[in-house]
Amino acid sequence: MKTTIRLLAGTAICLMASVPAFAEEYRIAVGDGAGGTQEALGKAFVEALEKESGGAMTGKLFLNGQLGDEQDTVTAAATGTLDFSILAINNITPFSPSVGTLTLPYVILSQDDAEKVTQGEVGRRMVEQTVEDAGVRIIGWGYSGFRVLTNSSKPVSTVADLQGLVVRVPKNEIMIETYKSWGINPTPMAWGETFAALQQKVVDGQDNPYMTVNAMKFYEVQKYITDLRHIFSIEPLIVSEALFESLSDDEQQQILAAGQAATKASAAFLREQESRIRDELVGRGMEIAKPADDEKEFIALATGTVWPKFYDQIGGVEVLNGVLASLGRDPV
Ligand code: MLT
Repeated sequence: MKTTIRLLAGTAICLMASVPAFAEEYRIAVGDGAGGTQEALGKAFVEALEKESGGAMTGKLFLNGQLGDEQDTVTAAATGTLDFSILAINNITPFSPSVGTLTLPYVILSQDDAEKVTQGEVGRRMVEQTVEDAGVRIIGWGYSGFRVLTNSSKPVSTVADLQGLVVRVPKNEIMIETYKSWGINPTPMAWGETFAALQQKVVDGQDNPYMTVNAMKFYEVQKYITDLRHIFSIEPLIVSEALFESLSDDEQQQILAAGQAATKASAAFLREQESRIRDELVGRGMEIAKPADDEKEFIALATGTVWPKFYDQIGGVEVLNGVLASLGRDPV
């Protein structure tokens, strides 16, 4: 579905034969607030789209879930009432279970891993699967970093410390089971409700990358951070497949090229900004703890019990083994 909003590109520009008088402006939903990886990915995409299309296509970002909660934007894009969305991959998993492989705890162990998996053959297969399952096409990949645990009650560095905390998780079975493997029953909640729930102490904590903690101003309502590395947050840029299919081959290629440029920009943004943002959070009064014993207890509990529970759902253990092989790791 093309949006009906059309922008006058300017009389002077119209006079130049090769530049269109009107730009098609697409609506791009963004789950997070300003300053995070999602916004950086979106801005880079819009800039590249304008360049690739010679000004014929552009986009407008709607931050902070203005166009709906992240999971709802997948449905909206699939039904053609929304053009694009940028969201965490865990919020696509309910609609396309195979991408859950990237949310299994301790599968992606670094930014290099995240880039390798998403930009290689595994990522290409996930794109096709998501089109088939969910009616949306991943055209760019954002990278936000590891989902660290934040809470307002106490420093946490062991699984024992975690007991008694009420932790919000996305509505994602894998993430729910991960916390269960650590002995607590987390609270599944939509992303858009999370800040208020932390503020009103309906929940004590949540996990998300430094970049997101900062973009969502969680430092105002959270004190402690635990540097968990169970999930490296990947934030895809999706387009409505109905919209994509309605475009000409040239327009499709321009959108794909802009998505690739945005992917590169997002990877660079995280590498350049993450440690600065981490320091800023400390400057704002947050205390950061490392998990005890190199996180060994967290890792053993999560990989030992969570992985096998989801083999069927992600399409078989061979899907996980394909990801591990692409990262040079041993199969399970
Ligand atoms: C979530 O926790 O639901 C997501 O990770 C939020 C996000 O997109 O940053």
